[in-house]
Amino acid sequence: MNTLCKWAAMVLALVAVPAAAGDAAAGKEKSATCAACHGADGNSPTPDFPKLAGQHEDYLLRALLDYKSGKRGNPIMQAQVANLSRADMADLAAWFASRQGLLTVR
Ligand code: HEC
Repeated sequence: MNTLCKWAAMVLALVAVPAAAGDAAAGKEKSATCAACHGADGNSPTPDFPKLAGQHEDYLLRALLDYKSGKRGNPIMQAQVANLSRADMADLAAWFASRQGLLTVR
């Protein structure tokens, strides 16, 4: 029983770890190059570049990781993430997710 409880606690601890836990303030510091295309707050001014503001943090991190691994192929973005660590990408995801994006009517 005691062993079972320890296992249950370990499993819960693993499940409770958030998938993306970036630091938005650190992400802001790292976002200067991104701003050229995506806008300073992630609200891209042109249709050529996707808006990032307000997007889910997990989605943004997944996209960045997929560019990095080559799973998502785009030469522009693959060059952008080439020198970023996972922590950098998590911070950037947190920053853009924290910005006000488009509003949808419910
Ligand atoms: C030279 C222009 C340019 C720069 C600089 C740039 N991006 Fe991008 N970004 C793009 C383009 C173009 C796409 C769309 C690529 C595609 O079709 O997959 C994109 C897509 C993305 C996506 C996926 C969006 C979605 O809705 O799936 C994310 C996330 C992203 N960029 C984050 C960043 C971050 C973070 C930086 C800074 C480190 C950055 N970008 C710098 C041009 C740029």
